[in-house]
Parts: sequence; C-alpha cells; structure tokens
Amino acid sequence: MTDNEATVAAVDWEAYERQFEGALKEVTSLDDLEKLRVEYLGRKSALAQALRDVRDRETGMRLNALRAKLQAGVDSCAGRLQAAALERELREEQLDVTLPGEHIPRGNYHLLTQIRREVEDIFLGLGYQVVDGDEVEDAWHLFDALNMGPAHVTRSPLHTLYLNGDIVLRTETSPSQIRVMEETKPPVYMVSLGRVYRRDTVDPTHFPIFHQVEGLAVDRGITLADLKGTLLHLARALFGEDREVRFATDFFPFTEPSMQASVSCFLCGGAGCRVCKESGWIEMGGSGVVDPNVLVNVGYDPEEVSGFAFGLGLERIAMLRHGVPDLRMFWENDLRFLRQF
Ligand code: DAH
Repeated sequence: MTDNEATVAAVDWEAYERQFEGALKEVTSLDDLEKLRVEYLGRKSALAQALRDVRDRETGMRLNALRAKLQAGVDSCAGRLQAAALERELREEQLDVTLPGEHIPRGNYHLLTQIRREVEDIFLGLGYQVVDGDEVEDAWHLFDALNMGPAHVTRSPLHTLYLNGDIVLRTETSPSQIRVMEETKPPVYMVSLGRVYRRDTVDPTHFPIFHQVEGLAVDRGITLADLKGTLLHLARALFGEDREVRFATDFFPFTEPSMQASVSCFLCGGAGCRVCKESGWIEMGGSGVVDPNVLVNVGYDPEEVSGFAFGLGLERIAMLRHGVPDLRMFWENDLRFLRQF
C-alpha cells in the first residue's frame, strides 16, 4: 500500500456521508450550506484530497459517485432554500392593489399669494416687467430719492423699523421704483409686489406686516390719462367688467399731482351699501404723476420723459373682494379660513 492509498483507506466514507447528511438537515441558510459544501466537497476536503490521490479504478468510481451524491444533496438543498426565500419575499412584499389609497389632502395657495399672482398676470399681460424689491432698504431709496425731506413724518422711528443707522425695513414698495430707474434707461414699465413693515398696533385693519403692489411707467409723453386707463383695466380685471374708477386729489411726496384712486362699488354697483360706506366708491390706493424731482434723483431728464406711479395694498384688495372682515385672519393660518379660497 502506498501512502496515498493509505489516506483513502483511512477515511470511513460511509461515516463521512452520514455526517454530511446529518449536517445538511440542520442547514437553514445559503451561507451555512456553502460552508458545508466547502467542508465536505471543497478543494481541501478529505473527499477532494482522496480523489486526487486515488490510484485504482474501483475506488475512483466509488468516490466519484459519493461526490456526485453529496453535490446533488447540496444542489437540492440550495433549490429548497431559494424557493423558500422567494416565497417569503413574495408574501412579505405583497401589494393589494384593491385596497383604498392613502388620502393625500390637497393644499392651495394662500389668498394673498393668489391675489399677488393675479395682479402680476394682469400687468404681464400689459407688457410690464415684474421685479423683486428688497424688504431691507436704505434711507436714500426709501425716503430721499422719493422726495421725502429730512423732517418727513414716516422717517420717525415711531413709524418705521430701523435696523441699523440708515438701514430700515421698507414701509412701502415705492423704493423699488427708484432701484429700477437707477439701473435702467427709460422707457420703464414695471410692477413690484411684496411685504412692507410699519410700527402699527395690531387691530382688525392694521398689522405691522402687509403687502403692496407698486407700479411705475416712465416714457415719452405719459399723461394722467394713461394712469387712469391702466388703473381702470386693473380694477375691472380684479373686481368685474362693469367697474369705473374715480380720482380725488391727495398728496404724496413722490407724485405731482397726487391722487387717491377709487373703484365703483362692486357690491351695490354705486347705489350705496355697507362695503362702500354708502358712498358708491371704494378707495383702491395712491397714485399720481411722477414728481420731476424723483426723475432727476435717478438721472432721468424730466423735460424728455414723464411717468405715473401707483401703490395699492394687496390685503385690501383681498378683503374687499372676498368680504374678509379682519386683517389678522391672513396671519392666523386657520385652515377653515384659508381653504375657502
Ligand atoms: N407708497 C404709498 C403708500 O404706501 C402708495 C403710493 C402712492 C405709491 C402713490 C405710489 C404712488 O407709487 O404714486 O401709501
């Protein structure tokens, strides 16, 4: 007997097979199965070594048959484990397409956002540019350039929120006029919508933050008639095709002449009611012909171009149109209110 034959003979192959079968029954995962395969059939297993060393045909056939049998055991166990895993996956990831879906509540834009977009669309339709203004401004753009002298009442810290020295929270959207004119040559047709801040005490018609739309047109030969036609178009788009507008004299430092624009009451049609306080007219906001001083402040020549400007409150438009009785409702985030629009 050679050494090799001794190795082959030294192993009790029936016991080898029984041990394998026993261990195979315990296997519950593909990882365990692989370990078992390596142990009994791998390159370093007693069986593989014996097969390398075998010299006689009969033993070779016997060991090959044993190897085939063990391999078949491994294969069928792998098949069972894979089938079980697939079944588990299918069961766990089952999707019942007949179950009712999860309800996703649908939101809507805040009423003020809706009004803001509506006003933007109206002016985009007239060929205007919509520009963003800055909520934090300096005294030049908010006051001086708009022709407000050093003693003007809104410069008082009792009216205006000062952040630092000359830096303020804007009290109106009008400085956006100045910024646009400083940066562009005429003609200018622009609107700017956004938040403004005033030191007001909260009550049904006051809130320290609110929104305005500022409008400005500067070109050759602009007159009051252009202002009137533009605000009439706006009033009709917002409040209905039958509306009329009316102007009354007013004062703003940055316009000359200055006017308060009113729209005929959309509720009573002019007969007089609670909304228009029995007058038939509802105030829309301030407007006027741009003061020549303002044009000079931005480097425009008042002999060459003229313009009109206006500023309206967005909350006021929303309150009038939808009968909102209290300004504070815009800030309370009560869905019962917000969902109505
Ligand atoms: N800025 C004014 C305000 O807050 C509104 C206003 C009036 C704006 C006349 C204008 C204007 O552009 O020409 O009350």
